[in-house]
This record gives sequence, structure tokens and C-alpha cells, in this order.
Amino acid sequence: MIARALLLATALIAASSAAAVAQTQEIFANRNVIAAPVLRANVQVSGDLVRIGDVIDNAGSAAQIAIYRAPDLGTTGSLPVAQVLNTLRAHQVIGVDTRDLKEISVTRLARTLESKDIELQVARALERRNGLGDAANLSLTFDRDPGDVRLDAGFTGGMLPTIARYDNRNGRFDVTFEIANENGAAAKLRFTGTAIETVEGLASNGKLHPLQAAFADLGGAQCGYCTPGILMTAKALLDREPNPSRERIKEAISGNLCRCTGYQQIYESIEEAAKTIQESKR
Ligand code: FES
Repeated sequence: MIARALLLATALIAASSAAAVAQTQEIFANRNVIAAPVLRANVQVSGDLVRIGDVIDNAGSAAQIAIYRAPDLGTTGSLPVAQVLNTLRAHQVIGVDTRDLKEISVTRLARTLESKDIELQVARALERRNGLGDAANLSLTFDRDPGDVRLDAGFTGGMLPTIARYDNRNGRFDVTFEIANENGAAAKLRFTGTAIETVEGLASNGKLHPLQAAFADLGGAQCGYCTPGILMTAKALLDREPNPSRERIKEAISGNLCRCTGYQQIYESIEEAAKTIQESKR
């Protein structure tokens, strides 16, 4: 009885060992099979080159070899399969399964920065710079219409302003952004033009600018027709000259006509605002 049990156990061990060996052989056999390269019908690339690994599956060690220039950013082109096969053959890639395709399409992925977003980012970069107010109250005129800007899809970073200059004597701005990609490189975008702050930007956080307060208190504004222009002219003056003489004030606003006030209250309002601003800085 005992001898029969032992024989049975030995037989079971032998059977399970044989199964394990067969399974192991099958695994190794599968590992040694090199999958055939298979052509892709639709290819998407994010750089300016198309590589072998982009156009076929199972490209192996040839995957990184560049074979074509990619189409323009955000566009799609097509490649005849016969041409692709010739190119692959030149790089010793043979036995490609074409899946009866006649051509393959190649799309170059892109990131589009819309012009309205660019304008917003430039305004934010200039906000509170050199006497300017809130971004929302800046009116920008670009030397060249930025339009929509396309970048390689890999440039996924935010628009980081690295240079933001504003000259309040002539309203000129010069802003440069860097946009990083996943490899740490950065694309640079530069925009120049003029920035004008509108009168709505004078008040801040619901508080009147000292010029607005003085005009209201001293009668510098009556019908209000001339007031926005005079306020912005006076602000530009006080940004340049914190303590201007009466003559300098007259000279600065001489281009603005007022039919109501006779100018006396306007001069006094600007002098009062200059004093308030200076006192607030002490
Ligand atoms: S306040 Fe009326 S024109 Fe100046």
C-alpha cells in the first residue's frame, strides 16, 4: 500500500515537472520571437523630425533614426507607403507589414497661444510697472500684431515674463516671455509696442486716486467732459515730476481744453494731489 502511494507521488512530481519545463520552453521561445515591424496609418509627432519609431510599431533599435522633416506646426501631411518602405529599407528595416496601406498621414502636434491670451499676459507683465495701474485698465498697441502663436507641443510651460520694461515718458513697452518644455529648454517670445492706461485704472481697490479725490474736493471737475484727459495727463506729470511748479502744471495740461473751470481749480487740484502723494510716501 505504502509502495503504491510512493509510486503515485513520484508519477505526479514527474508529470508536474514535465509541464513546468514545457511552459518554460514556451516562454523562452516567445521571448526569442522578434515581432514584425508594422506600419502605422496615422502618426503624430511633437518635434520637427519624423523617426522610424514614429512610422512603425516594433522598430527596435532603429526607432530613433530620423527619416523625414515633420510638417509645419499644427499641420498634417501624407507619405506614400512605397516611399516609406524604400526609406526604411535603406536603414535595414525590412519585412514591414504594410496592412495594405497606400499612404500614412503625419500630424505635427502644436500648442497654440491665442492672441487675446498673449495680450492678457503682456498686460499682466506690465501691471503696476513704472506707474502703470491694473492690467485690466491697460490698452496695448503692438508694433506687430502677435496673432496666434504656434509652438511645438512639448512647450507646455506657462508664459513666464523674464523681461518687462515700460517707459512712462513715451508709453513704450518691451516684454519677453520664456515657455519651458519637458526637457528644460525654453522658447522665447518678445513683444513690443505702446501701453496706455485708461482713466478707469486710476482708482485702486475701490479707493480714489489722490488726483480724483482732489478734483472732486476742489471743483477741478465740473461738466466732466475734459476730466479723463486732464487726470491722465496730470498723473503722467506727477509720475515724472512729483512736485511740479504751477508753470510746469500749466505747460503739461496745455493740450487739454476745459470750458467750465477756468483752469484755476484744476491747477489747485493737481497741486493738492501732489502734496497728498508726497505725504503718503513719508
Ligand atoms: S469740466 Fe467741463 S470742460 Fe472741463
